[in-house]
Amino acid sequence: MRYGLFIASIFSSSVLFAQKSLVGPGKAIDPFHYTTVKTISGSKAAVASAHPLASKVGTAILQQGGNAFDAAIATQLALAVVYPAAGNIGGGGFMLARRQNGTLVALDYREKAPAAATRDMYLDASGNAQTTLSQNGHRASGVPGTVAGLFATAKYGKLPFAQLIQPAIELALHGFAITEREARSLNYTRDAFLQYNTQPIAFVKNTPWKAGDTLIQTELAATLTRIRDNGMKGFYEGTTAQLIAAEMQRGNGLITTNDLKQYQAKERTPVQFNYRGYTIIGFPPPSSGGILLAQMLKMVAPYPLAQYGFQSVRATQLMTEAERRAYADRAQHMGDPDYWKVPSNTLMSDAYLKQRMADYSPDHATPSSAIKAGLVKESDETTHLSVIDAAGNMVTVTTTLNGGYGCRTVVGGAGFFMNNEMDDFSIKPGVPNMYGAVGGEANAIAPGKRMLSSMTPTLVLQNKQPFMVTGTPGGTTIPTSIFQTIVNVIDFKMNATDAVNQPKFHHQWLPDEIDVEKAFPDSVRTSLTNMGYTIKELDGIGRVELICIKHKNGKIILDVAADGRGDDDAEGF
Ligand code: DON
Repeated sequence: MRYGLFIASIFSSSVLFAQKSLVGPGKAIDPFHYTTVKTISGSKAAVASAHPLASKVGTAILQQGGNAFDAAIATQLALAVVYPAAGNIGGGGFMLARRQNGTLVALDYREKAPAAATRDMYLDASGNAQTTLSQNGHRASGVPGTVAGLFATAKYGKLPFAQLIQPAIELALHGFAITEREARSLNYTRDAFLQYNTQPIAFVKNTPWKAGDTLIQTELAATLTRIRDNGMKGFYEGTTAQLIAAEMQRGNGLITTNDLKQYQAKERTPVQFNYRGYTIIGFPPPSSGGILLAQMLKMVAPYPLAQYGFQSVRATQLMTEAERRAYADRAQHMGDPDYWKVPSNTLMSDAYLKQRMADYSPDHATPSSAIKAGLVKESDETTHLSVIDAAGNMVTVTTTLNGGYGCRTVVGGAGFFMNNEMDDFSIKPGVPNMYGAVGGEANAIAPGKRMLSSMTPTLVLQNKQPFMVTGTPGGTTIPTSIFQTIVNVIDFKMNATDAVNQPKFHHQWLPDEIDVEKAFPDSVRTSLTNMGYTIKELDGIGRVELICIKHKNGKIILDVAADGRGDDDAEGF
C-alpha cells in the first residue's frame, strides 16, 4: 500500500512533512485567517464541502497532483478536525464515484451493529422503546467505518495516504479558528458533552466559545498520526482500538476490539436509471437514497414539470405525492442487503411505479393512512462533499455521525466523537427514529448488520459525460433534497447556486405533513392547505454541495455552489 511505502522511506517523516506542509500561518492555507466562498466558476477541478478549510485542503491536494479520490480523502480527514459536529473518523459514510475511464465505484463504509447487539436492545422491561439510549452516549454507537472507507478509496488515488492525512494532523495539532456557527453549536451542546463524557474533552472550556477562538485537538492529532503511520491498523487495532473499547466499557457501550478488527468497507453496485435522457447514478442499499431518488424521479417523469413551473402548486403537490409513496416503501422494504432481500428492481421498475401513482389526484392530498408500501412480488448530523478533477473523475461522499457530534461521547485519549448511528435501525416496529423514519423487520437490529441510511451521494451524466456531482446531509430530508436539486437543474434549468439555495419542501409519508423552509412562498402553502395538506415549517432543509459541468464553445465550465445554509465553501481552479 502507498502509505506503507511512504513510512518505509529513509527520510525522517517530520523533515518530509515539513516540506509538504500546506497548513499554517504563511502557508497555502492559513487556518487562522480564511474566508468562505459560496460559488465559483472553474475550468478544471473543484471541491465543495461543509467547511472552508476542508475545501481548501482538498483543492490544495488537487493542485499538488492528486486526483479527485485523493482530494476526497484529504477533505474528509480535514472535516474530521475542523467540523467535529459531522466530519468524523468515528462514524461512517458512502463514497460514489465515476472514474475518468467511465467505471463506477460505490464504497459502503456504513457503521455496523456490534456483535453483542440484539434486536430488542433499546426496549425496556415493558417493551417500550428507549430512544434516549439509541441516540445518546456510548450504547448508541455502531462500529465506525470511515477509516476503512478512506483506505478503500485510496486504491483509486495517486498520492501517498500520509500526504493526504498530514493537513488534518496539523489542523488538529496546531489548531484553527472556529467559525461563529461552530462557536454557537459547541456552546449549545455543552451540557450534553458534560453528560455523556467520562473524561475531559477539547470541546468544553470554562468560558463560552466565540468566533475566532482556536480549537486544538492534541489527542485527535495523535490518533491521526497513528493512522498515518500504521494504516488501517492505526485505527482498528492497537492503541486506538483499545481506547475505543475502554471508552465503551466506561459507558456501557458494546463495541469491542474484536468488532473493530472485523470491520471492512464493501464495494456495492450503484443504482442507475434514466431521467429525461440523463443518467442518474445513486447509492444502493444499505442506503435507501438511490432507490428513493429513482422512485421519486420516475413517478414524476410522465408529467410536464417544466411547464407547471418552479414552486407552482401543481409541481409541488405532484412531487409531494411521489415523495409520500416512495417513503412508504422505504419503511417496509429497505434494509441492509446482506441481511434482507431488498426488492430493488421491482421498486424501481416503470410498471410498479406507474401502479403506485394510480391513485394520485392532482386536486387533493392522498392521506398517508391510505398509502401503504407497495406489494412487491420479487422473492442533523451528516456532511457531504463533491469533487471533480481535471481528468473527469467525479467523487461524491456523504459521511455522518448521525446526530450533531454523534452520541456526544469522545473516545477518551483518542479525541474523536463516536456516532449514534444505532438509532437509524428500527429499534421497534413503527417507532420513529430521530428523523421521524419508521421501519420494521427489514431494518431490525442484528449483530454485524448495517443500519438503513438516507444518504444520497449522486452523480448525473448527460450523453455519458459528467453533468452533476451532488449530495447533502439532512437525515430523511436527504433524498427529497437531492430529488429537488436534480429537478431544479434539469426541469427548471437553474444554475448551481439557485438549485441549491431555493427553499425546499419535504414529505416522508409519516408523519403526514409537508415540511417547508421559512422562505417557501405563502401562496403555495395556502393552496396546499386548501387541498388537505398539513404544512410545518422547518429551520433548514439540506446543505447541498453541487458541481454542474457545463460546456461553452468547446470548453468546460464548472458551476460550483456550496449551500448558503451553513459554513459550506466551494473552491477550485
Ligand atoms: O444515514 C442517515 O440517513 C442519517 N444517519 C443521516 C443523518 C444526517 O443527515 C444528519 N444531518 N443533518
